[in-house]
Amino acid sequence: MFKLQFPQDTTPRLADAPAFKDGEDGWDTLEAYYHGSELAFDIRATIRERIHNGNMRAFRVGLYPVHGNTIAGEELIAICKVAYGRRRAKLLKKEADLYRDKLASLQGKWVPAIFGCYLGQTVEAWTCILVMQDCGRPLPCPFYMLPPQSRAQVVDGLHHLHKAGIVHRDFTEHNVVIQKTDSGKYWLTIVDFGEAREHDCPCKDWKVEPVYAPQPVTGTFDCAELWNACAQDVDIWRPRTVRFYEEFYPADWAASDTPEEFLERVRIPDGIMREDALEYAYSVITRYREAAWTRLEWDKLPLLWKD
Ligand SMILES: Nc1ncnc2c1ncn2[C@@H]1O[C@H](COP(=O)(O)OP(=O)(O)O)[C@@H](O)[C@H]1O
Ligand SMILES: [Mg+2]
Repeated sequence: MFKLQFPQDTTPRLADAPAFKDGEDGWDTLEAYYHGSELAFDIRATIRERIHNGNMRAFRVGLYPVHGNTIAGEELIAICKVAYGRRRAKLLKKEADLYRDKLASLQGKWVPAIFGCYLGQTVEAWTCILVMQDCGRPLPCPFYMLPPQSRAQVVDGLHHLHKAGIVHRDFTEHNVVIQKTDSGKYWLTIVDFGEAREHDCPCKDWKVEPVYAPQPVTGTFDCAELWNACAQDVDIWRPRTVRFYEEFYPADWAASDTPEEFLERVRIPDGIMREDALEYAYSVITRYREAAWTRLEWDKLPLLWKD
């Protein structure tokens, strides 16, 4: 059975420090719960960076193939998600199961590729370690401030999860990472399936349209996670309607009409004076255009982030 050697001291090592000396001790050995078929050898991790210290810990590591106690290959940068204690280890094992089963076909593109999942006793406690592809860095800004193509891409990723039968249940900026691809484009990957559950998505056939397609009519789009992502968090739809008193009218009217033209098309409720209605029409139109303007301003922001 393949093994992972994980350091007992998780203080990061400088990038140019020697990875380790042969025969050096201070490593816990965990056994593969499963191990990627492309890795036909034991691996050893050295800590490069501590990324996260919550219920689970996450480290950026250098992975080395080991034969016996000797390194036999190049370093590969990867991420280790580590759960200490039996209860947490069990949760991480469940996450590993999701990756292996329902998410298998999405690995390496929409979700990280998994190199393996390992279990065993460490200096800390009973431990589970999920070793996966390094898919980049935390997002530099909220979803809604990302460029339009990145917003559409992350929603596409979420939709792929749903089509694969999974609802994420913790789809926030903290669980999406960004990297620059070889072609210089940005790519966003969804991580952290600790809260995910099986899901028969009613919107499997929906197609992620270019950003600013009109928001679907309420009641025709029945998946809460996708709806919240598109309509609120990632903000990829343009409003279909605006509200004027108690009724809804096409948002396009607010985009193009003068307040007087708008008043000609809508119904003014009984008892409302025309000048009050005109003032209200003005505020509805102004609010709509200010929101659209802010949206366009955000869309022009460059993505600034440290590699
Ligand atoms: N495959 C990955 N590539 C790059 N960063 C990752 C990867 N997986 C996790 N991370 C980073 O580690 C953090 C913690 O991992 P996560 O799975 O979200 O743990 P938790 O369940 O404790 O929230 C994430 O917010 C993200 O910044
Ligand atoms: Mg998380």
